Amino acid sequence: MRRSVILGTGSALPARRVSNAELSETVDTSDEWIVERTGIRFRHIAGEGETTSTLATDAARAALAAAGIDAGAIDLIVLATATPDQTFPATATLVQAALGIPDCVAFDVAAVCSGFLYAVQVADSMIRAGAANRALVIGAETFSRILDWQDRATCVLFGDGAGAIVLEGQAGPENGILSTRLHADGRHNGLLYVDGGPSTTQTVGHVRMKGREVFRHAVVNLATVMGEALAAAGLTAADVDWVVPHQANARILDATARKLDLAPEKVIVTVDRHANTSAASVPLALDTAVRDGRIQRGDLLVLEAMGGGFTWGAAVVRY
Ligand code: COA
Repeated sequence: MRRSVILGTGSALPARRVSNAELSETVDTSDEWIVERTGIRFRHIAGEGETTSTLATDAARAALAAAGIDAGAIDLIVLATATPDQTFPATATLVQAALGIPDCVAFDVAAVCSGFLYAVQVADSMIRAGAANRALVIGAETFSRILDWQDRATCVLFGDGAGAIVLEGQAGPENGILSTRLHADGRHNGLLYVDGGPSTTQTVGHVRMKGREVFRHAVVNLATVMGEALAAAGLTAADVDWVVPHQANARILDATARKLDLAPEKVIVTVDRHANTSAASVPLALDTAVRDGRIQRGDLLVLEAMGGGFTWGAAVVRY
């Protein structure tokens, strides 16, 4: 059986790190409120010259180095983002050019915070179908550029960053992507969206969210889709070594783990340092835990995310 194996991971953050205290100098909020409601303490904010594509390229370079392969060996780039450098062309092609890859397949996936899970399923399907051999799968965002900095209910929640993995198709490995499950329910557009776009307002718009309703849906959807992905791989929550979740809110992470009867120590948490980096958050958390030595080769991982649309998904991976 042909499977997609993670050869390496990488990530990148903007240089500027902003604390809750610093934010509260310009936004009517407090460190206490943000920590208590979300678990967030810091976020990184892109500065001049830092864009979604530059962060994505840095994360991709780190993943390629960890994988021990040259950029020229990549034949597919799937990049998940809701904050592309340009409306078109795809940010994936900017990364391709920056990495000096003369020819490959390169495109973006738009599924907001679950974009990385969507990108993983697309790349995995192409690899298993023989349409690609080595893929860069990237989640990269500069949400700071679509936040309404007057809206304290949203602007304190998000940050910028990028994460990447290198996938390789191998015949009959023990490890690799074992299953993926994706969902969308477009009826919930009004709960989490951007109030602009090229075809409507000709502006990029700002993030709008009904936080409480999103929270409610997130816990149910994430627990359900993790159960589905595990069942598809013939496994249960008891087999899981690490959950690598979308980092939106520490309370969502706790509630979801409880629903699946998973020990909180098995959940990788980076929301305190990165805040919600949308499509970047899962690969950023994955790379963090690989580099700090928690995630080891052979461990069973469940990746999960939910975002605007709503869209949500999970992947079961033997690392
Ligand atoms: N600082 C201080 N007070 C704030 C604030 C901030 N940054 N943001 C909102 N508030 C206030 C509100 O104005 C409200 O005040 P009021 O009661 O006087 O009207 C109060 O805090 C409670 O607001 P509410 O929105 O009901 O809080 P909450 O407990 O639901 O927490 C979220 C808000 C956003 C933290 C929470 O709903 C959440 O995390 N939702 C999920 C969001 C998410 O994960 N989205 C991404 C999915 S991809």
